[in-house]
Amino acid sequence: MKIVVVGGGPAGLYFSILMKQARPDAQIQLYERNRADDTFGWGVVFSDETLGGFQEADPATFEAITQAFRYWSDIHTYVNGELVTSTGHGFCGMSRKRLLQIFQERCTELGVEMQFETEIPNLSAFADADLIVAADGINSFIRETHADVFKPHLDWRRCKFAWFGTDLELSAFTFIFKDTGFGLFQVHAYPFDDGLSTFIVECREEVWLAAGLDRMDEEESARWCENLFAEWLDGHKLLTNRSLWRTFPTVSNECWHHDNIVIIGDAAHTAHFSIGSGTKLAMEDAMALVDAFRREGVSDVEKALTSYQEARYVDSIKIQKAAQTSLVWFENSARYLAQDPITFQFNLMTRSKRITYDNLELRDPELVAKTRRRFMELNGDTPGPDGEPRVPMFSPFRLREMEMDNRVVVSPMCQYSAEDGLVGDWHLVHLGSRAIGGAGLVITEMTDVSPEGRITPSCAGLWNDEHTAAWKRIVDFCHTTSQARIGVQLAHAGRKGSVFHPWTGDDQPLTEGAWTCVAPSALPFQPDWPVPKEMDRADMDKVLADFVSATGRAEQAGFDLIELHMAHGYLLSSFLSPLSNQRRDDYGDSLEKRMRFPLEVFEAVRAAWPQDKPLAVRISATDWLRDEGMTAADSVVVARALRDRGCDLIDVSTAGNDPRSQPVYGRMYQVPFAERIKYEVEMPVMAVGAILGADHVNTILAAGRADLCALARPHLADPYLTLHAAQRYDWTLQSLPGPYLAGRNS
Ligand SMILES: Cc1cc2nc3c(=O)[nH]c(=O)nc-3n(C[C@H](O)[C@H](O)[C@H](O)COP(=O)(O)OP(=O)(O)OC[C@H]3O[C@@H](n4cnc5c(N)ncnc54)[C@H](O)[C@@H]3O)c2cc1C
Ligand SMILES: Cc1cc2nc3c(=O)[nH]c(=O)nc-3n(C[C@H](O)[C@H](O)[C@H](O)COP(=O)(O)O)c2cc1C
Repeated sequence: MKIVVVGGGPAGLYFSILMKQARPDAQIQLYERNRADDTFGWGVVFSDETLGGFQEADPATFEAITQAFRYWSDIHTYVNGELVTSTGHGFCGMSRKRLLQIFQERCTELGVEMQFETEIPNLSAFADADLIVAADGINSFIRETHADVFKPHLDWRRCKFAWFGTDLELSAFTFIFKDTGFGLFQVHAYPFDDGLSTFIVECREEVWLAAGLDRMDEEESARWCENLFAEWLDGHKLLTNRSLWRTFPTVSNECWHHDNIVIIGDAAHTAHFSIGSGTKLAMEDAMALVDAFRREGVSDVEKALTSYQEARYVDSIKIQKAAQTSLVWFENSARYLAQDPITFQFNLMTRSKRITYDNLELRDPELVAKTRRRFMELNGDTPGPDGEPRVPMFSPFRLREMEMDNRVVVSPMCQYSAEDGLVGDWHLVHLGSRAIGGAGLVITEMTDVSPEGRITPSCAGLWNDEHTAAWKRIVDFCHTTSQARIGVQLAHAGRKGSVFHPWTGDDQPLTEGAWTCVAPSALPFQPDWPVPKEMDRADMDKVLADFVSATGRAEQAGFDLIELHMAHGYLLSSFLSPLSNQRRDDYGDSLEKRMRFPLEVFEAVRAAWPQDKPLAVRISATDWLRDEGMTAADSVVVARALRDRGCDLIDVSTAGNDPRSQPVYGRMYQVPFAERIKYEVEMPVMAVGAILGADHVNTILAAGRADLCALARPHLADPYLTLHAAQRYDWTLQSLPGPYLAGRNS
């Protein structure tokens, strides 16, 4: 078998080592355009967890690598003039040059034919190769040559960064956040060899331009950064080695192979350096590719490459996602400078969501204890009965005169179990048990203000006296048996109405008893759905009056809070998005005009709702269609307009307005949208979406990324989620019902 490897970085070299061992008879030729000792960059860093697989894959290189390691477990963060240390992390680092030397030596030993200073301009010389491994890095020419098959996506990010070295030997992973007249500069630095550390300087592109770094050469910018970080460098120098300012591209490809060509390492996917995974990913690709040949044999190369992608793709996406979350955190880090250093450090440690509250408590209980104390102080909270600060989820929260026992919210969930809008025993048990379950606030399902405002014929409503009485029974039950507050989500389904419910008709339009839906524009939600009626002023007045009337009934029923549903493509949400609102009158076109009707409804409801009771709004912060439709920036404008009109809380969801939306799901995936509103609009926000339990709730709250957390599906699985968390964290809930007290410590 003849194998050609283009690129002598970690991916190409490590693949060659492993493949030569798996197939000693294979001829492996590796081409690298640089000289053998021409390594750019400084140290590479690995975490504890990374190393396991490498030992098994090739014990010889593993031993040589680990001998070259320096180990450390602390993370020092310098922010706002203070140093905060977190411990228990377990990292190791080594010189990138040494790593490549080890790989090159091993390749020589095994008989890999390496040719340095050989630039490969195209693949025409390798027609006889059985396999071509494109390990040619971030700017892979092979990937670009076959872009039609690989379908690469390059997302050029907002920061500039340069890899420097320094002759200062640091004792820990070190982050430095230095605010300047130009904006924030941040450093990611770590030791890797005797008397040497990596020192990456990063800032937003506009900050870099303002500082004039675009006009400096490599040496000048090194001296400029040396000066900026002089107090930390302590007289030491910043060293250069092609330390040019770069923009990070997040590279991804839909497909990783074409005929007998496969892309691996940075050519296939990049991961931001802030989680130190580029080299690790490259080496793991190499292992997985060789494993695929072990599994499938070498007679059918395409089959092995398909098997490689199948086995590796999801894992690599997971790491890329964590890296991307971390990257976005650093792009926006200036917003966290307002946080106190302890909260900032907690936030930094949990930024990629791979480390959470519980996990950090195992690594560094002291930092978590300090964070809890700080959370208590910042929220004007009091210690628990044991004199210790409460776990953040059990911190009380207040909106107007509504006081919540804790910060867990049962997110609205349609039950499709009402008759003519009338809720019954199902709703009593469903909502009642979640109130008893300890949540601070329970929000009802989408409750419609008129019959034609329902999604399905079995949706809940609040448009007649019978409805009011039925809801009052549930509200009274929650109030008398628990400390939970109960809110009603008032809504109108708009063009998404008149459908079957999910488990009988798969959300498709009704075939019998259908009604005409109204919408901002005569555009159906799905192309084959009935066209809705474009609302005229009379329709708007009717909807407005229905919302006001439902508000009066909500007050009569005794609800503590109203949440207006302006999310998920229902009527008010469909006014906000330009994809569903294509009006050219005063209620469409610009965002300002698209907001007009939802704001009219908000103002009318606010006026009808008692002043001492809070009014929240749920929005879809993005349509998840890149720059089309509602964007995160638009949601900031909407939230500000609502806040200015007396909105107390924004419940930040996403999507639902366009079937083409492509949400990027993942744990706590909507938190960044909530956080942006919290910091840019400076108002309370509620995060929702794949917040999978108490650990996530505490992670989000302690990092100061949201004020409340709403959980939907986890509450379907466990109505007593908060009570269980109270047991887990050894906390006595005020809301523990008397009849359940005896079970507290069982
Ligand atoms: C300047 C720089 C410094 C870095 N420093 C560090 C660091 O200190 N620590 C760290 O953890 N990560 C560092 N990284 C990131 C890290 O190198 C990558 O994530 C990792 O090396 C990916 O491995 P790879 O083998 O896929 O790609 P690379 O390491 O980029 O290797 C690709 C190789 O292909 C060669 N090549 C490309 N085209 C051709 C061609 N046509 N013909 C022949 N050869 C070709 C290139 O010269 C290169 O050596 C650095 C990246 C850069 C760009
Ligand atoms: C069965 C079900 C019904 C839902 N009904 C509503 C609803 O009536 N109103 C609403 O705003 N969101 C509704 N949602 C969305 C949830 O409130 C929540 O935003 C979403 O499920 C993400 O949270 P989770 O990951 O905790 O489930 C519903 C979700 C589920 C699973």
